[in-house]
Amino acid sequence: MGNARGKFITFEGCDGCGKSTQLKLLSEYLTAQGVAHIFTREPGGGKISEAIREILLNGKNAEMTDECEALLYAAARMQHLADRVEPALAAGKLVICDRYVDSSLAYQAHARGLGEAFIESINAAALQKYAPDTTIFIDLTPEAAFARKKGADENDRLEQAGTAFHKRVYEGYKKVAEKYPERVVCVNGEQAPEDIFAEVVRVLKKRNCL
Ligand code: TYD
Repeated sequence: MGNARGKFITFEGCDGCGKSTQLKLLSEYLTAQGVAHIFTREPGGGKISEAIREILLNGKNAEMTDECEALLYAAARMQHLADRVEPALAAGKLVICDRYVDSSLAYQAHARGLGEAFIESINAAALQKYAPDTTIFIDLTPEAAFARKKGADENDRLEQAGTAFHKRVYEGYKKVAEKYPERVVCVNGEQAPEDIFAEVVRVLKKRNCL
């Protein structure tokens, strides 16, 4: 008798939205509750996808085309699904993933302007087999996020992209949330971290993910 397939939960939001804090709180909570789970992140999570991540986030690769960037994210995603997500889901574990296809829709389709059709087509294989059961979108504008963070990291190619870019990322996320209301749950990121977390747990319980 095999385990029931585990649930697949993704977290999304603009850079600096407080996603990492929430993931840390959730990790502590799941461990304390004895829930079988894994935490993973995109891009990365294994040897090959971590190597792709290094190319993507390296400040020296500024001449990378937008299409190349989008394809590398999609390539890293497939490897990550095979290496980490599939085995955990098959073992009945809860999978918590920091970013997924919605990041490519927000950053590459909307902010870079490649369009949804292109991003959906290169991510079709991932989405067909691995649609998240629930996506938590931590809803915080980039203005609010950057005010908290006090300036971008100089070595991070993506954070150098500037405020206009990050505003488009945010607008992209709002469109994704409107397009997939059954799957994407928006949580107000302006609340105190513990209040955001209480809401995250409520949402996941209500949707039978916990
Ligand atoms: P990371 O340092 O992990 O950011 P964060 O901690 O905010 O998640 O860097 C991931 C960066 O990659 C982040 O700026 C978003 C970007 N990204 C894309 O542009 N497209 C994608 O498909 C994914 C997964 C991430």
